[in-house]
Amino acid sequence: MAEIGFLGMGIMGKAMAVNLLRHGFKLTVWNRTLSRCDELVKHGASVKETPAAVIKKCKYTIGMLSDPAAALSVVFDKDGVLEQMCSGKGYIDMSTVDADTSSKICEAITSKDGYFLEAPVSGSKKPAEDGQLVILAAGEKALYEEALPAFDVMGKKSFFLGQIGNGAKMKLVVNMIMGSMMNAFSEGLILADKSGLDPHTLLDVLDLGGIANPMFRMKGPTMIQENYSTAFPLKHQQKDMRLALALGDENAVSMPVAAAANEAFKKARSMGLGDLDFSAVYETVKIAKDSS
Ligand SMILES: NC(=O)c1ccc[n+]([C@@H]2O[C@H](COP(=O)([O-])OP(=O)(O)OC[C@H]3O[C@@H](n4cnc5c(N)ncnc54)[C@H](OP(=O)(O)O)[C@@H]3O)[C@@H](O)[C@H]2O)c1
Repeated sequence: MAEIGFLGMGIMGKAMAVNLLRHGFKLTVWNRTLSRCDELVKHGASVKETPAAVIKKCKYTIGMLSDPAAALSVVFDKDGVLEQMCSGKGYIDMSTVDADTSSKICEAITSKDGYFLEAPVSGSKKPAEDGQLVILAAGEKALYEEALPAFDVMGKKSFFLGQIGNGAKMKLVVNMIMGSMMNAFSEGLILADKSGLDPHTLLDVLDLGGIANPMFRMKGPTMIQENYSTAFPLKHQQKDMRLALALGDENAVSMPVAAAANEAFKKARSMGLGDLDFSAVYETVKIAKDSS
């Protein structure tokens, strides 16, 4: 089996890489903070000191970076992906970025005769550990097909959505909906509490009705306990709201609900909650309640 490169050992990258190693894939990994690769070595991965060195060694390489700036930096900066990109090699960016960022990366890779695929994912830390992600790929179909054995291990379903940008856009639409839902859910939990109802009973009621969903089921009990142990960092959710709102601007789609949710995530960041789980946006609603 050909060795796969993997750049970015954050919450998601690490979980996805460990899962691939467990399923017998050979990986060479890199992370900006190199020490974060140590755990991967214990699982059998090799480590290189630069993205360029990973690209040189592997037929195709996956990137899982925080945001557009990080995704661009890993490709374009010194010792980056581009330096060793050439014919026969592929790069798959699984980070959540906007379509413009993805297009810039695609143009650069293809100008070196390499293949490019964007493949952001739906699903968080636990689905990444369990190989239950939903993969939203677009771009070079041949690279998609080459990567399918790895996608089948990382995800429960892969979509090929056509031209570059479609995967990025689909991911932003999904996360825009999720961020708006999380805010409505937070308000509901506080409203129940403030009006004399037990929020745990609200969770039971919600779970039996038409708006039951895994997010309410999983996050509700921990939010009531004010436990925001990070699965999806709040700063990344705010980035996704920002990028989704920009997509709305481009397409003249009015999104007042998403705009309000974005403000709540920005407020949470200003309160120093950016590295906590995105469910910590609950704190912004709670403050309003506590001060009344
Ligand atoms: N967590 C989730 O539930 C989830 C779910 C779906 C999609 N996503 C998306 O997946 C991506 C990764 O998320 P995550 O939760 O794994 O984030 P994370 O834990 O914050 O990890 C971010 C990764 O990006 C690297 N990075 C940041 N800035 C960089 C730069 N300028 N140059 C090079 N590397 C840089 C970090 O390296 P260091 O270790 O050196 O900081 C780290 O490896 C994001 O786009 C996120 O929106 C996340």
